[in-house]
Amino acid sequence: MRTSPSGGGRAAVICGLGAWLPPRAVGNDELAARIDTSDEWIRSRTGIRTRHFVSPGMPTSRLATEAGARALASAGLETVDAVVLATTTPDRPCPATAPLVAHRLGLTGRPAFDVSAVCTGFLYALSTASGLIAAGSADSVLVIGADAFSTIVDPEERSTAVVFGDGAGAVVLRAGESAEPGAVGRVELGADGSLTDLITVRAGGSETRSTDVPPTRADAHFSMAGQEVFAHAVTRMAEASRTALADAGWRTEEVDRLVGHQANARILHAVGEQLDVPRDRIVIHLDKVGNTAAASIPLALAHGQSAGELLPGARVVLTAFGGGATWGATALTWPSLRTV
Ligand code: COA
Repeated sequence: MRTSPSGGGRAAVICGLGAWLPPRAVGNDELAARIDTSDEWIRSRTGIRTRHFVSPGMPTSRLATEAGARALASAGLETVDAVVLATTTPDRPCPATAPLVAHRLGLTGRPAFDVSAVCTGFLYALSTASGLIAAGSADSVLVIGADAFSTIVDPEERSTAVVFGDGAGAVVLRAGESAEPGAVGRVELGADGSLTDLITVRAGGSETRSTDVPPTRADAHFSMAGQEVFAHAVTRMAEASRTALADAGWRTEEVDRLVGHQANARILHAVGEQLDVPRDRIVIHLDKVGNTAAASIPLALAHGQSAGELLPGARVVLTAFGGGATWGATALTWPSLRTV
């Protein structure tokens, strides 16, 4: 599906960027001391060296509020017209987490809602927020990606416990012109529900709560068919990126930076190979944070900005694949942003 937020000249333009990680950093060796894995296996199979975990009692709303506040400061704004939060780990199954985050940011009364598309969540939220601006429903929107996967993975399950981390990233969108740097153009989005079981938490929703059968430990935690997901992720992110490039009218060699969902360095390298984007143009942030799900792309953007990899005017492709299955991509020219 293609959404066209620009329509005519009016478009959503990125004008602020913020990120936050919970203080507790957990290196590979700390995990290897507890479960049957090794720093060497994790680094060679994923590229991850460390990640951050929430401390007990720290919910996703805290991550989202911290990142949102930083994005607002970066934009130089105290208020926005709406808040869209991408997350798979809401504070509670009901209600959505976004209204609480908006309240804590001093935005009580503004529309605020969650978007659930797992690791593609940020791109789904970005597209939704761009649409609010294009339709004239809002002149500014705070878009946050926040997840605390350490609260849903089984800490004893080595295939998932080592790959995920917690964090949040956010951008502020304002109404502007489609030709401006930072304008969010078409967002190519897709989903295939036949792949629901590949990335899932089976228990806790209406499917299991409608029965009296207590969930097994495995069903109560996150599970992922790693190799199948790997293959789909490469194919879908490469395809969606090609469409985004075609929409933007850019050739692959004109791409300055590919910012893909940070699940696995091998996946990002494979996507780069399919697109002919060399490795030195692929933003890698997962070594420091692991797979942070909906937070992955805005955290990678904040890293790229502070590391000087994303310079004003750079041609950037964003792409992600996640549970659902869902996927997406978009292309934009990087704006000049204030780092906070
Ligand atoms: N430490 C040591 N060994 C491990 C391990 C760990 N943390 N996790 C799994 N293994 C073992 C397995 O038991 C298996 O052993 P076996 O061959 O004796 O059966 C072996 O390593 C290979 O397991 P496999 O699952 O095939 O590994 P992999 O190379 O596919 O890597 C992932 C696993 C999860 C890192 C990888 O599949 C991946 O990144 N998948 C995609 C994730 C993604 O894109 N997510 C996006 C949406 S969330």
